[in-house]
Amino acid sequence: MRHDHLITSKQLSRGDITEVLDHAAEIADDPGAVLEKHAGTLLGLLFFEPSTRTKMSFETAMKRLGGDVVDMGSIESSSVKKGETLADTVRVIEGYADALVLRHPREGAPKMASEYVDVPLVNAGDGAGHHPSQTLLDLYTIRENAGLEDLSVGIMGDLKYGRTVHSLAYALTKFDASQHFISPESLQLPREVVYDLHQNGATVREHGDLESILPTLDVLYVTRIQQERFPDENEYRKVAGEYRIDAGTLEAADDDLTVMHPLPRVDEIAPEVDDTGHAAYFEQAHNGVPVRMALLDLLLGDSDE
Ligand code: CP
Repeated sequence: MRHDHLITSKQLSRGDITEVLDHAAEIADDPGAVLEKHAGTLLGLLFFEPSTRTKMSFETAMKRLGGDVVDMGSIESSSVKKGETLADTVRVIEGYADALVLRHPREGAPKMASEYVDVPLVNAGDGAGHHPSQTLLDLYTIRENAGLEDLSVGIMGDLKYGRTVHSLAYALTKFDASQHFISPESLQLPREVVYDLHQNGATVREHGDLESILPTLDVLYVTRIQQERFPDENEYRKVAGEYRIDAGTLEAADDDLTVMHPLPRVDEIAPEVDDTGHAAYFEQAHNGVPVRMALLDLLLGDSDE
């Protein structure tokens, strides 16, 4: 994979994605083979927004490759609080670390930051923009459960602000998947994303409810309505809880339907679904470790070279 930074799934070809997924599968089969491969390597973690999965799985991945992390910590305890710019912050931390992982509330911030550093930088989520490493673990989970050929995927919930959705949709386009987007009108995919997907040859269909499309799906990817991104609390209240999956909903689904969610969930998926054969969201979160190990290994390259 020939990329200095990972900013968006748009930059990845089908071949790039397959390379990461194949390498992740090798690592999952034999983690011992890469145990000390990046001994002495330090990964810088810069999270300007909360995270559990992305931050901890990158940390686990780096440590399982023999390296370690340096963590900027919370905004409150860092010099960001004193008004330091993002450009200055990343320029300083690239002197401490061999690669950087950045989450930021502002769309485009990782792209801008990457222009100030020479070490690889991974976008770990930028506002409502993109979350490409999430997409890689999503595709890995889809490949394990449903395969990536002749795929019909339903993506439901907050499609407007959902960065995991935007990243996944671009990547699924490269696998010629049939994509169905299910949301209230106010949370539809941004028009520019729909236009862009069509321009890239995607098959995109938008639906107001799940009922009619559910029986045809191989994968249902559910997302949280992101209260923190709504400019108006009343707008959030109008749609909160409108799209919820429970065991009754899934009676109409194919027996092999895979239900995914990038997590955290609030109430979009009832806990009773966890015990069905459909639920793949905890497996999906766990896949973050081998996939991010593979990604870091490929971005860092061979330390002997
Ligand atoms: N899926 C995801 O990005 O989760 P976190 O916000 O916990 O990192």
